[in-house]
Amino acid sequence: MNRIYITGIAGMLGANIAYLLKDQWEIVGVDKVLFRADKIKCEQFDLLDYQKLRESILRAAPDVLIHTAALVNVDLCEEDQELAYQLNTELTVFLAKICDEISCKMVYISTDAVFDGEDKTLYREEDIPHPVNQYGKTKWLGEEEVLKRNHLVVRTNIYGFNVQDKYSFGEWIYQSLQRGEILHMFTDIDFSPILVNDLTEVILKLLEEDRQGMYHVCASGCICKYDFGKYLQSIFSLNEGGIEKSQSDHFPFKARRSKHMGMSNKKVRETLGISLPSPEESIERFYQLFCDGYHEEIKSWGRSS
Ligand SMILES: NC(=O)c1ccc[n+]([C@@H]2O[C@H](COP(=O)([O-])OP(=O)(O)OC[C@H]3O[C@@H](n4cnc5c(N)ncnc54)[C@H](OP(=O)(O)O)[C@@H]3O)[C@@H](O)[C@H]2O)c1
Repeated sequence: MNRIYITGIAGMLGANIAYLLKDQWEIVGVDKVLFRADKIKCEQFDLLDYQKLRESILRAAPDVLIHTAALVNVDLCEEDQELAYQLNTELTVFLAKICDEISCKMVYISTDAVFDGEDKTLYREEDIPHPVNQYGKTKWLGEEEVLKRNHLVVRTNIYGFNVQDKYSFGEWIYQSLQRGEILHMFTDIDFSPILVNDLTEVILKLLEEDRQGMYHVCASGCICKYDFGKYLQSIFSLNEGGIEKSQSDHFPFKARRSKHMGMSNKKVRETLGISLPSPEESIERFYQLFCDGYHEEIKSWGRSS
């Protein structure tokens, strides 16, 4: 059996990776919150405590380290630029160095927010990033060090079911509409969101083939946020609330947003010989997981406090 170390194990992606791989891999993880779940070992401390982090990784002696923890709140990154740099860049550099020291493969989860959206085609791995906010900038700086050391960087945009009482984009739409709320969703921002369940499968394949470098792991094609919401509403047959068209410029964000974040997944599809769902097919799978009770299953498996 091989061992994976996951940073941010109580987060949306971290918890789903742990849940989906727990029967094949030995899972060890760390998060700020206390997290308990069957078949995995979790530690609770702040990742910026580098001494604790180093000791924890050396003790675990993982074969693979998946770095999912980040300061993901885009506006907070703009307000506290130092914290964004520490968490998204410096911590990533620190982890890449430890991984080299112990010959452990690192997977760094990055973001479509490294692009400014000016190029209207789907962004490819070789396109030069030009982030428009501190979140994108600090995540991009993290990527550089991981690539330099021949590890794996996965750029993505994700949603799925959380273990904690937090909502991903898909959960937020579903829950809000169910409460009868009216949502204002952007017609001028598009993206290529993938379910964390599908992303986990692709990461596993990339690891099995010992791939390194940059991969865009996202949906096939892109969709605007309004169309995403409308399609989810129709698939879940939610008639309670409503979704109205809105423009991002009318929203008082602190940080600038890129309006086009659609990425191409051609490289990963061709490398692994796989197909990946369109945004609409992905929403259908999200609904199917919901009907199968996956959201209840994962919440009853993991408990955080
Ligand atoms: N969600 C998206 O749409 C999206 C899109 C593109 C890329 N990504 C990337 O995907 C990765 C995973 O995202 P996610 O949505 O799963 O994020 P998430 O749910 O916020 O998970 C990250 C986890 O890391 C924890 N964490 C943050 N700072 C920490 C620290 N100093 N010490 C210990 N734990 C800490 C968080 O705790 P707190 O919640 O308490 O801070 C959280 O439990 C991130 O690297 C993100 O940049 C996400």
